[in-house]
Amino acid sequence: MSKKIFQRISLLPVFILCFLSGPQNLHANSETGDSVSVIHKLHSEELVRGERLFYGLIYSGEKAVNCASCHNTRFSDSLNWNPDAYEISLKYKDLPVNDLSAVLLNPKGAKLSEVHNEFDLTEADVVLIKAYMDEIAVSGLVQAKPIMNKLILFIFMIIVIVLALAELIFIKKLKPKWIHLLLIMAALTYIGNTLVKESIAIGRSQFYSPDQPIKFSHTIHAGQNQTNCLYCHPSAEYSKSAGIPSANVCMNCHLIVRSGTHSGTWEINKVIAAYENNMPVEWIRIHNNPDHVFFSHAQHVSVGKVACQECHGEVEKMDRLIQVSDLSMGWCINCHREKEVEFHTNKFYNEYEDLAEKVKSGELDMVSVEKVGGTECMKCHY
Ligand code: HEC
Ligand code: HEC
Ligand code: HEC
Ligand code: HEC
Ligand code: HEC
Ligand code: HEC
Repeated sequence: MSKKIFQRISLLPVFILCFLSGPQNLHANSETGDSVSVIHKLHSEELVRGERLFYGLIYSGEKAVNCASCHNTRFSDSLNWNPDAYEISLKYKDLPVNDLSAVLLNPKGAKLSEVHNEFDLTEADVVLIKAYMDEIAVSGLVQAKPIMNKLILFIFMIIVIVLALAELIFIKKLKPKWIHLLLIMAALTYIGNTLVKESIAIGRSQFYSPDQPIKFSHTIHAGQNQTNCLYCHPSAEYSKSAGIPSANVCMNCHLIVRSGTHSGTWEINKVIAAYENNMPVEWIRIHNNPDHVFFSHAQHVSVGKVACQECHGEVEKMDRLIQVSDLSMGWCINCHREKEVEFHTNKFYNEYEDLAEKVKSGELDMVSVEKVGGTECMKCHY
């Protein structure tokens, strides 16, 4: 009897795993629901054939092309310069098949003719590929949630405790008691540790690096082309926020530069479209202090002469921007305690006469931000 229960309980993690790891749609689009019925007019075998063609699983002639090797069908957390399968599918959803044939069988433009090179596809194949792409335009990309691993481990640890207790109290097959104790201690340590870590991290987002609407690369712009940070973020010098450039700023160069080495015309076309339709690009904000915190770029960049990189990391080497600092209070305070201000050369500090005296008399060998009030609560909190 108890053995059966034991067996059932031990299957629980497997069920939870299956339940949690179900696919999740990223861009599920409810407006386009009616096109599902159009797709279903095609035989399901044809749709499957379209899918197999898209994944290069049908070996026709010389070589099979795997469209998905360039056009992601799954959400990816690293940079892929090629447009994803959802984007291209959405563009061609309401266009005639001929338009898709044109870009596949007869590609124009430097990048497109390089990547869509001699595809061994017939017009009939393209019809089937299009049917599959129409389906992607509705269902979106597939994302496997990484956080789930942590959650699964967490639940697993709870189950370990329950099982160990059940064995200890009811089943009593295992003689040495220290095994139970060890398991329970280990599981409790993990649970306690996770709870503490997660609750500290609430509201913080270190290493946050969302997918942006345009694959803008700081490596290309601030690194390779050496465009000054302030060319695009000019208000960092004189205002609270550094700001994100509008499409007008991009167009200073992209009126001429119409195609990129990595992404061809696809990404730059989005900049041009935003500019021509007078629509802002919806960049996703990465760094964000809570509302009760006052932070000013001008204070740090102009007065403190702190380099952007001290807080934001080597941005000029980031193809995809990532938040490297945790922006916690400890992070601000630590720097304020250690960082020396340019006390003698900066007129800003002339009012601190008593400090100047102490430096002169040798009582202080350097003036940190803390000494000029950088750790007073009211300086950072409204
Ligand atoms: C050609 C214009 C351009 C240049 C030059 C540039 N940036 Fe940016 N920056 C952007 C755009 C556009 C975004 C928003 C997209 C993104 O986050 O990648 C951005 C985002 C950022 C962000 C993240 C903003 C947020 O949402 O929290 C930081 C930090 C940043 N830039 C720092 C820098 C630094 C430091 C430099 C110089 C090394 C620099 N940028 C040079 C255009 C530029
Ligand atoms: C100072 C000039 C300049 C500005 C301003 C500028 N770009 Fe660029 N951009 C370039 C150059 C040069 C390239 C490289 C073209 C190449 O790869 O040969 C480029 C390439 C790109 C690419 C394609 C990268 C690739 O290799 O496929 C994208 C996308 C892009 N820029 C977006 C933007 C956006 C968005 C803005 C505005 C926030 C912007 N650019 C502002 C000069 C600029
Ligand atoms: C080697 C990588 C690669 C492979 C393989 C590939 N593509 Fe592409 N595809 C690209 C790139 C890069 C672009 C963007 C080029 C540009 O816009 O200049 C693109 C653009 C597209 C576009 C949009 C064209 C436009 O500008 O309107 C469609 C549609 C497309 N691909 C479909 C497919 C299909 C279907 C397959 C498989 C038969 C496929 N691609 C295979 C790299 C690839
Ligand atoms: C002392 C640390 C520090 C320095 C130096 C710094 N930043 Fe920031 N940056 C931050 C913090 C903190 C935020 C979040 C601000 C908020 O939420 O109010 C931020 C936000 C940003 C943003 C997002 C938009 C905004 O204005 O809030 C951009 C873009 C940015 N910084 C660019 C730059 C550039 C470019 C430089 C150099 C000229 C720079 N930063 C220097 C700490 C710094
Ligand atoms: C990399 C070092 C560094 C970090 C990180 C940093 N600061 Fe600063 N901060 C400075 C320096 C240098 C000054 C001196 C400029 C001055 O005297 O006003 C300063 C000055 C200030 C001041 C003005 C203090 C005064 O006496 O007037 C405020 C407010 C401030 N910082 C807030 C913040 C907040 C909020 C954060 C975290 C989100 C932060 N700082 C993170 C270096 C840093
Ligand atoms: C140099 C800037 C700075 C100074 C000085 C400062 N704080 Fe903060 N404080 C912050 C930042 C930034 C946050 C947000 C941190 C986060 O979300 O983890 C914060 C968060 C907090 C919170 C919210 C708790 C939390 O973790 O979200 C409290 C309460 C707080 N501060 C109290 C104080 C008190 C009291 C003082 C004076 C002894 C003080 N702070 C001085 C920058 C500062």
